[in-house]
Amino acid sequence: MLELVAGALWAMLPAYVPNNAAVLAGGGEPIDGDREMGGSRLLGDGKTWRGTAVGTLVGLALAALLNVAVTPAAEAALGFSLPTFPPLAALGLALGAMLGDIGASFIKRRSGRERGASFPGVDQLDFVAGALLLALVLAPDWTLETFTLTRLAVIVVITPLLHLVTNMIGYGVGVKNEPW
Ligand code: CTP
Ligand code: MG
Repeated sequence: MLELVAGALWAMLPAYVPNNAAVLAGGGEPIDGDREMGGSRLLGDGKTWRGTAVGTLVGLALAALLNVAVTPAAEAALGFSLPTFPPLAALGLALGAMLGDIGASFIKRRSGRERGASFPGVDQLDFVAGALLLALVLAPDWTLETFTLTRLAVIVVITPLLHLVTNMIGYGVGVKNEPW
């Protein structure tokens, strides 16, 4: 059980952290350059170049750090092995997480939801879908090996909870505008 949950969360860490880093780094030029489509913003002011770039870089840096942390001694102490991240897998997870969140903003704007409006279900899993998809494209063998069906089930259940808790913390300490 510990092995399953730890392995699933470890594999997703480079996808979890970029969105939080983007919240801290956000601001500056919006990606859509103020452009509109059908009377609403293409993406909105909440998706910026800086947030996206910093988020992706932080995800990559974290993956590199996790790779160093998985030593034979650490695995022996745990009693099981943890995933490590080839460069393309790390890029898929980190950039894919940002792109999934951006894609969700596109859909939110098309469905009349203003910046910051909640979209239950989509807000919690958009970045997971984006991360897994881009990882599958950039590092297919690694992705299929790493994200077993049981791990995916754990991720789909635990991610919304983690997302809720981190966003409430972000809201509580004043770095996030809404608690979702
Ligand atoms: N952010 C950013 N660039 C991104 C993602 C997030 O700069 N690619 C920053 C923005 O400052 C954003 C904040 O992180 O306001 C919170 O992110 P999120 O909740 O995803 O954006 P919202 O402002 O809620 O906008 P949306 O409704 O489009 O999701
Ligand atoms: Mg939001």
